[in-house]
Amino acid sequence: MRPLLIAGNWKMNKLQGEARTFMESFLPLVQHINRVVMVICPPFTCLADIRQVLGQSSVFLGGQNLFWEPKGAYTGEISGQMLRDAGCRYVIVGHSERRQILGENNYAVRKKVQAALEAGLVPILCVGETLQERENSRAMEVVREQLNQGLNGSSPGPGGLVVAYEPVWAIGTGVNASSHDAQEMIAFIRQTLTESYDSDFADQVPILYGGSVKEENIAMFLAEPDIDGALVGGASLEADSFAAMIGLGEHVE
Ligand code: PGA
Repeated sequence: MRPLLIAGNWKMNKLQGEARTFMESFLPLVQHINRVVMVICPPFTCLADIRQVLGQSSVFLGGQNLFWEPKGAYTGEISGQMLRDAGCRYVIVGHSERRQILGENNYAVRKKVQAALEAGLVPILCVGETLQERENSRAMEVVREQLNQGLNGSSPGPGGLVVAYEPVWAIGTGVNASSHDAQEMIAFIRQTLTESYDSDFADQVPILYGGSVKEENIAMFLAEPDIDGALVGGASLEADSFAAMIGLGEHVE
């Protein structure tokens, strides 16, 4: 059975003190959780603070991005090894904000996926179409391309890869995909993975939905057979509601 994974992507939010305050409220609320794999992806500047308060808790840390080289003259970049050193187990790769605002293309995403794997991190590879691509009936073609190019040549081991389907039009807009559409695309993603790898591998990759997931709608996504969790932006910034979302995940059949 695939694990259920709920990851919070804080994006460029929270100062160190705010991150600590969050964790101090959040950790007691999730200490009974044992089915859901919990991941927090804070800004780099908060990683050390959070790691300190994590102690023995089962919450994992993730980076929001990495560069593909292990070290060197790359001003402003951060390597997979540095993220590992800071306590990360996961790293988000190819988030649509990086693709759209910072011009990250499938080639860069592929190099980053490989660098993450080489550093021993689990990449959370984000894929998803724009509204225009969906309206032009190109959603599946675009997602397949992002997936195939992003993973081309990489061979993650068991448990070594997470994919997040995040339609661009649903991110931060309050307009979520329907659980039916998300299920359809995620089943397609799993099918596409069987073409590059094999069905045993594809069957064990957790595939998340992301885009305006909140306490009111998370259960409907998690009830779908192929949706193995959520990548949560805005609603992961409040300890109470993020913990409540995880609590709902804990009880999904
Ligand atoms: P959102 O962001 O939940 O605020 O829509 C999701 C994401 O960007 O991962």
